[in-house]
Amino acid sequence: MTRFAILTAGGDTPALNATIYGAVERANALKIEMVGLIRGFAGILDPRVPHVRLNPLFSTIPELNPNMGGTLLGASRTYIDRGQADMMSEIKQRLQTLKVDGMICIGGDGTINGMQPLCEFFPCVLAPKTIDNDLGLNYLDEVNELMMDESENRGHRRHGTSLARPTIGLDEIVNYVTPGFATAVFVVVQGIERIRTTAESHRRIAIIEVMGRDSGFIPLGSAYGQPDIILIPEARLDMDRLEHRIAELYELQKHVVIVIGEGVVDQDGRQLGAATKSYDPAGNIIFNGAAEELKQLLCKRFGDDYFGTRRKHESADSAIFTRKVGHTQRGGFPIKFDRFHGVQLGGKAVDLLIEGQNNMIATLQWSQEKGFFLDSLGANKLRDQWGKIHPRHVHPSFYDYQRFQPSLLGKNYLRSVLTGAIGTEDVEQIRADMFSPGKLSTRYQSVNIDIQRRIETII
Ligand code: F6P
Repeated sequence: MTRFAILTAGGDTPALNATIYGAVERANALKIEMVGLIRGFAGILDPRVPHVRLNPLFSTIPELNPNMGGTLLGASRTYIDRGQADMMSEIKQRLQTLKVDGMICIGGDGTINGMQPLCEFFPCVLAPKTIDNDLGLNYLDEVNELMMDESENRGHRRHGTSLARPTIGLDEIVNYVTPGFATAVFVVVQGIERIRTTAESHRRIAIIEVMGRDSGFIPLGSAYGQPDIILIPEARLDMDRLEHRIAELYELQKHVVIVIGEGVVDQDGRQLGAATKSYDPAGNIIFNGAAEELKQLLCKRFGDDYFGTRRKHESADSAIFTRKVGHTQRGGFPIKFDRFHGVQLGGKAVDLLIEGQNNMIATLQWSQEKGFFLDSLGANKLRDQWGKIHPRHVHPSFYDYQRFQPSLLGKNYLRSVLTGAIGTEDVEQIRADMFSPGKLSTRYQSVNIDIQRRIETII
């Protein structure tokens, strides 16, 4: 009997359960047992290896709902340290005790890095997810450019270097889009549209901060909410041009809506809002306060007089406000695009293990002729010569630096992903569920309670 393990690592996305579901349904068809490890890699670092049988008698457990956001397995940012030899042999022993023949890790670039030590003794494949859409390459050779720019700010290639290719073909993109991105954009766009009308009524400048770490795909996608100005981390902030554009727009329409990616940097490459850098337990920089710092910069530049004369007696501080869309981008139900492709990628990951692959990534590709299709890629193709996997950045040809908006190519990319990304069932879910009277008389039913009853351990 073949048995595979599956885990969800890193920050969650709305498409995780869909991806797990796709893997389990494929396993059912192939008569493979699937066990879910609890809380990502933390599950195998725990000597008890808490796990759940996801398909007893090859039938998917009812708690696994592909329409639900989050992950029924739980997630963590705990990764395995290759340096700890004792730990590696213990993990090997645990996986033998669990009788698993291979593992599917659902995650992003951090997860691939974390998966590497395991791949040395055990077949592992990755099913991608991340709302940031930063897992992949703009073109296959890009990793070598990243390598050459290692000395640059934070070890990432920044646009505007002589190395960057001026443009790319959309069908060159490796791992075109990751499940979770479309839903994050869906949430962001709703936020912008709601903030727009209040900024408009009160003649204010709204600065909306969105996620994405160092990559600007979410701010780029926010273009569907028609913000006046989009600031992405790949384009260093030019305060003079920005001030000029804001003044122009404020004179014209008496309010301005700005979207800022949380990882936006100034001309020196310093992250906005990072007076002192802080890191999460996995060593990732915690992004905090880009919108707030931009507000302070604008307050200084415009001053109270500017708004006093235009808005009567109001200060710059009250005329400019900030909002973070925050974790709502990562939560809730996945829209059709993420659900569908999450399921597909989960199934593909099972197929890769069955083919005997190791250290491979199930990918979603796109071409004009074929539309979306599944493929795979060796994880090493994403690694630079030091073995590091870099986040994919928005390519310079996707962004119009003068207008602070997506370029024509950027718009074409967004259209290929987001046109038709919402299903009628998504709209129906909101209609039927939002004000369902029963919700007032029942508590939220957490999947954690149901899963707790199913958790088994090896000791
Ligand atoms: O990588 C996904 C992401 O949502 C980023 O966009 C964001 O910076 C980060 O995770 C937030 O992480 P946490 O939930 O640990 O605060």
